Amino acid sequence: MSEPNTITINGNAFTFEPGETILDIAKRQSIDIPTLCHLKGATPTGVCRICVVEVRGADKLLPACATPATAGMLVQTESPQVVAARRLILQMMLASGNHNCAVRGSDGRDWTHFQMGVQQDDQSGELCPVWGDCRLQDLAYRYQVDGHAFPRSPSPYPMETVNPFIVRDFARCIQCGRCVQACNEIQVNNAINFGYKGAFTKIVAAGDRPLRDSDCVFCGECVQVCPVGALVEKDVRYRVRQWETEQVRTTCSYCGVGCQLNLHVKDNRVVKVSGVEGVAPNYGSLCVKGRFGYDFVNSPERLKTPLIKENGQFREASWDEALDLVAARLGKIKTDHGPDSIGVLTSARVTNEENYLASKFTRAVLKTNNIDHCARL
Ligand code: SF4
Ligand code: SF4
Ligand code: SF4
Ligand code: FES
Repeated sequence: MSEPNTITINGNAFTFEPGETILDIAKRQSIDIPTLCHLKGATPTGVCRICVVEVRGADKLLPACATPATAGMLVQTESPQVVAARRLILQMMLASGNHNCAVRGSDGRDWTHFQMGVQQDDQSGELCPVWGDCRLQDLAYRYQVDGHAFPRSPSPYPMETVNPFIVRDFARCIQCGRCVQACNEIQVNNAINFGYKGAFTKIVAAGDRPLRDSDCVFCGECVQVCPVGALVEKDVRYRVRQWETEQVRTTCSYCGVGCQLNLHVKDNRVVKVSGVEGVAPNYGSLCVKGRFGYDFVNSPERLKTPLIKENGQFREASWDEALDLVAARLGKIKTDHGPDSIGVLTSARVTNEENYLASKFTRAVLKTNNIDHCARL
């Protein structure tokens, strides 16, 4: 008889906590069950079915992400029946809409034929912007399927390109619902949801309007969680490919929350920003400034040296010269008029560390408690 709270996956027994799903246990044991719709931290929906597994005694395959483990369960994660089901799901997804990457259409034809196929599918000649960075493409490769098993069903909806930061390509949407959950359950912005029915199902903002005319705040959470090329940062599209970038982890400097960012850097330029998954305080989420406000880094108008104003005109100065000047002026004011003649104003729009330093400088160096903050201005 099996132990209480023990499950057997692929012949190996594992203990589990009540409420854990088959996927939770598999992840902990480094057993790779593919997922598409599953979003950590959100309610499991079980819509894509790519995570199906075989459970002895069940009359059908069960989604690992939405099936709670029960004592004595016997699970197979890559049985022939499971693999056949996943191949079928992938074939249907690839035939739906426009998946004109190499997965669909290269099959032995030469490059010219392939390009002509791309043009026919996309009416633009452009390959998918997330080619090589797509979960569906990864799984098509893993399970060796392409999009030719079923007649292609084109998307009824044109691409939405009017938004300032996000391009929505409904023809590449696999309707996994991750964007909806990210918007409603993680960010709680409630800007998008499923709309229409059947072949006309679409992710819509209220009134089926473009995001720019909706409650969307352009946090970009939906872009980060989209597993395919249906949601893409406008400025990143066709400018950079994921594998060409180096990722540099840093802390966002727009406010004191301290969100963890990955700067995607190509040729020494920041070309994209994403949230670092799985770490505090933001667990991958960002606001519009953190995610999209990085142009200033590469702006030719960015100040890179201190400026000193003389006779009404600014001139460039070295850091030593500028700091010496500030120190001398503050020192003189302090000597002539006392420390309390000086006040320091800081901001919520800098890091906690900068605010801490400003407080130390004001109290310990200037010897005044006259320090305040933009929240009270
Ligand atoms: S979304 Fe993915 S599967 Fe579809 S065309 Fe783009 S890379 Fe290929
Ligand atoms: S950008 Fe943010 S607010 Fe807008 S739809 Fe996406 S998740 Fe929702
Ligand atoms: S836009 Fe992306 S995340 Fe949203 S349902 Fe479509 S494929 Fe899924
Ligand atoms: S990942 Fe489990 S049903 Fe989609």
